[in-house]
Amino acid sequence: MALSKIGYERSEQMKSTAMGEFEAWASSYDASPLQRFLFQPAYRMVLEEIYRWRKDDDRPFDALDIGCGTGTLPAMLAASSLPVRAVGLDYSPAMCTVGEKKARETGLDDRLSFVAADSEHLPFPDGSFDVVSCSNSFHHYPHQETVVKEIRRILRPGGRFLLIDGFRDNVIGWVVFDMIVKAVEKEVFHAPWPTIDGYFRRAGFQAIRRRKFGFWLPLLLTVGEA
Ligand SMILES: C[S@@+](CC[C@H](N)C(=O)[O-])C[C@H]1O[C@@H](n2cnc3c(N)ncnc32)[C@H](O)[C@@H]1O
Repeated sequence: MALSKIGYERSEQMKSTAMGEFEAWASSYDASPLQRFLFQPAYRMVLEEIYRWRKDDDRPFDALDIGCGTGTLPAMLAASSLPVRAVGLDYSPAMCTVGEKKARETGLDDRLSFVAADSEHLPFPDGSFDVVSCSNSFHHYPHQETVVKEIRRILRPGGRFLLIDGFRDNVIGWVVFDMIVKAVEKEVFHAPWPTIDGYFRRAGFQAIRRRKFGFWLPLLLTVGEA
């Protein structure tokens, strides 16, 4: 079923399932074996893209990571040599609390902050960020197209959106994400790549490109320019 057509009850169910799962997982999230096999490779792909784009530009820029979990990706960005101010946003207050604590402990809290909010309603004015990333979180969103439009709204002209999530368009990805992950996480949807492409195009993104990587846990990175 197209996600745009799902009813209010089902969408609230998706959100409360995600919230329950992640509030409970926050304190042990960083020790999960999935860090090594799924999350860290995704962070590296996103950081590599941002670094390649910004490395020769010494102007400060603003980055937002939505569905940031414990904030490892924005923390890695904030700790890099790039002149970035980073914000992590997550629906789960417990995830944000862990992220804030890590930022304080590593002395990154002057360039990294956290906001507990829903990716569907980003609490920022139009044109607030130069880059928005979303790593392994998009499949939890009941209104994915709305989220992509929100991201386009808060990006400055020339800004970029980097979306990374499970690639379910080959047999391995279908078994892993549509069968196994769905059986475990229940209310999730890994969008096929043409669906993601449509979200980006209709939100007004240009120069859309994608890279698939990983064999047993295939991931898809989609990048669009505002
Ligand atoms: C699998 S974790 C990924 C966390 C982090 N991006 C990473 O790659 O490690 C998914 C995260 O998405 C968050 N999330 C789910 N639905 C959300 C929503 N509607 N708005 C914001 N965050 C959401 C969850 O709370 C959770 O922290």
